[in-house]
Amino acid sequence: MRLKTKALCQFDALLLTLQGISNLEKVKTVKIGNIELGEMPLFLAPMEDVTYKSFRYMCKKYGADVMYTEFVSSEALIRDIQQTKEKMTLFDFDRPVAIQIYGHDIDSMVEAARVAEECQPDFIDINYGCPMKKIIRHGAGAGLLLDPGKMQRMTEAIVKAVKLPVTAKTRLGWDEHTKIIVDVAERMQDAGVAALAIHGRTRSQLYSGEADWSLIADVKNNPRMTIPIIGNGDINGPEKAKAFLDQTGVDGLMIGRGSIGRPWIFREVKHYLETGELLPAPTVADVVQNVRDQLNMSIEWKDNVRSGILMMRRHFAKYFPTLPNFREHRIRLLRAETLESVQEELDLIEMEYGHFRVDYCNVSLK
Ligand SMILES: Cc1cc2nc3c(=O)[nH]c(=O)nc-3n(C[C@H](O)[C@H](O)[C@H](O)COP(=O)(O)O)c2cc1C
Repeated sequence: MRLKTKALCQFDALLLTLQGISNLEKVKTVKIGNIELGEMPLFLAPMEDVTYKSFRYMCKKYGADVMYTEFVSSEALIRDIQQTKEKMTLFDFDRPVAIQIYGHDIDSMVEAARVAEECQPDFIDINYGCPMKKIIRHGAGAGLLLDPGKMQRMTEAIVKAVKLPVTAKTRLGWDEHTKIIVDVAERMQDAGVAALAIHGRTRSQLYSGEADWSLIADVKNNPRMTIPIIGNGDINGPEKAKAFLDQTGVDGLMIGRGSIGRPWIFREVKHYLETGELLPAPTVADVVQNVRDQLNMSIEWKDNVRSGILMMRRHFAKYFPTLPNFREHRIRLLRAETLESVQEELDLIEMEYGHFRVDYCNVSLK
């Protein structure tokens, strides 16, 4: 009897262990190389002239899990151009963070990846998605979507050249007739990338129309794919993030324009995904405080008041949407040249609208 009980106990223990293992398996944590990113990591999309230090800091404060630098040109990087070096300066708060590089020449890209690695990011990201003429003209960015074979060779060469994990970010294809993302994703995985971010538009679309998430779902559901897929395009709030996730089953979500003027979108999305509840929007007084913090950090980092103010203009324009009779305030804020005039305007906004809550319902990403 005693023997039987002991055997049963051992059996129960085994069952519990197996159950534990299978429960662990249900909690899907995402990894880029050895970097543990938790269950549903939120990525701040790389954005030129937007995702510099002060803005990254605000997004991190509000829950962005992974960050990128603005993209840096491989040629500039090799030539050691000062502005590029500044873009690659990383801070402890950033981590995990990637340096994103772009270029058309495989050897230069390999060299650039090696130089970027010396700056000690957590991973290196390759830009295969930029649609701008000045970039694609030379066959870089989304231009490489016209030559998936070269894209694969470039990626393989970079993966081989550096020790850090390499990821890529791309679009659905060149145009509506060449939506080749399912093939491109397989090629990227075969080339050794540790994760792939996909913006649900083609190069021809630029930023027009709506992002098509169905092809991102096709990539995610392709049984050949094992690397994390990060979905990107048009996430403008928690409900859209959830819909995107439900439709695609991606491993992580990337938010770009939706975070400009609303860095707390990361906190809002996380809270909604966890609880199904929407957080109240911040009051204008809270927003003003955030603007002041971001402004001060921009000035301190640039070590120049005017540059700090100029950096903030794109953000000023987005921080106070849908407030009634706000036009004059916005104009004055965008024209302010000195720190005193910006602060004065922020004081006025706080006095007049401080108790309002920002309404994000009809805010366009354009
Ligand atoms: C101002 C701006 C700058 C951008 N710069 C980059 C960049 O440097 N690298 C990159 O991969 N994508 C860049 N993008 C594209 C975004 O990362 C993102 O893929 C795109 O905006 C779609 O996501 P969203 O709808 O969440 O904004 C940029 C987008 C904008 C609006």
